[in-house]
Amino acid sequence: MDTFIIKGGVPLYGEVAISGAKNAVLPILAATLLTSEPCVIRRVPNLSDVHFMGRILRSLGASFSYENGMVAVHANRIKARGDYDLIRKMRGSICILGPLLARKGKANVSMPGGCIIGTRPIDLHLKGLKALSAEVKVREGYVQVEAKQLKGTEVFLGGRVGPTVLGTANIMMAATLAEGVTIIESAACEPEIVDLAHFLIAMGAKIQGAGTPRMTITGVNKLHGAEHDVIPDRIEAATYAIAAAATNGEVTLKDMRCDHLAAVLDKLKEAGVQFEAKGTSLKILSGGNIQPVDVSTQPYTGFPTDAQAQLMALMLKAPGLSIITERIFESRFMHANELARLGADIAIEGPSAIVRGGMPLSGAKVMASDLRASAALVIAGLMCEGRTQVNRIYHLDRGYEVMDKKLRSLGARVKRGKES
Ligand code: EPU
Repeated sequence: MDTFIIKGGVPLYGEVAISGAKNAVLPILAATLLTSEPCVIRRVPNLSDVHFMGRILRSLGASFSYENGMVAVHANRIKARGDYDLIRKMRGSICILGPLLARKGKANVSMPGGCIIGTRPIDLHLKGLKALSAEVKVREGYVQVEAKQLKGTEVFLGGRVGPTVLGTANIMMAATLAEGVTIIESAACEPEIVDLAHFLIAMGAKIQGAGTPRMTITGVNKLHGAEHDVIPDRIEAATYAIAAAATNGEVTLKDMRCDHLAAVLDKLKEAGVQFEAKGTSLKILSGGNIQPVDVSTQPYTGFPTDAQAQLMALMLKAPGLSIITERIFESRFMHANELARLGADIAIEGPSAIVRGGMPLSGAKVMASDLRASAALVIAGLMCEGRTQVNRIYHLDRGYEVMDKKLRSLGARVKRGKES
């Protein structure tokens, strides 16, 4: 297994280009199943999750090719039953359920399990599909959905902690080919949902209100092939912005959307990070004294759960107490114990992590537990005196395009090696 070996203590300096958004591209790739015509997606990050989704599409009968950030998919003839073991390995693949059902009139997809960050139920996905008049069963580990003709409806998709991102994606994709009008109330407002809506509209779908809690989809008979450029990855941007601040560096992030990062930038400002946002670039300036902040994760436009771990790493630098409350996933603090190996003082109290910052940090061997936890450990490694080894880097490769190369281009001493 690959590992990162980091020699910390070097401020990051220079420019880094932000890649296309993983969480936008996965549902967009699933949406290509809605048409028998070819689709072309550009600005696709070269990530293991993207290639995994490619394998899933191929296993359903579609052709999928990736070259230099461009994906061509042609789902001419597809089957409705997904490969059990393949699909269950990637939670994000649940978003093939809606498009398969809409295109084939039925779908069989393995029931996704929980994961390290929480239980991750799909009750809201199933509620939405039932509302569209699908029959839903869970049998032998599969979710089986069937509907000769989906029917437009009004459905409330808010859950325990608010809207669901992939649940909204599934229902909006299914509704594009339903008969009549579907209104999703409490729809997720994430930029990735808006990007998916843009792709679906380019395919001929009729969607209004994407990016607001009330989305209206008027079903059409058929969707056609389309081309699309994926939005920049706001979480990758947040990660590099935080890494720059954590090393007291000066880094310009290019090709990004500052408007997608309002909550993160607001928190960084409160923490004393200085920056200049101009058009599609964001320059993090050195010299800010990092102050403790309190933050709660929320659905968009609030502070994203996917940047919580990285902010926690930054708070290790802030003398005093920061309270970081995780409101989206119940066990997304696995990084706290690993950060403790580097000298961090973090107490977990229910959904909150109380971070006492300003402690000396020194490098150690740590283990990544999920994608964003890995990013936090890398940031902390960059802040540490000495050598940090971050094991199980395959988690990071799921969602960060060539992070080691990008960090090296900013002057970081990061090497990819094999776990010993
Ligand atoms: N939830 C339910 N029932 C459902 C669906 C969700 O109760 O049917 C709950 C979840 O348990 C959670 C909350 O609703 O407490 C939000 O989950 P959501 O469905 O929005 O998460 P997701 O769509 O499965 C996507 C991203 C995650 C990101 C979350 C929240 C993708 C592929 N994944 O997951 O990304 O954390 O939205 O923003 O888009 C990551 O990139 O590291 C990552 C985990």
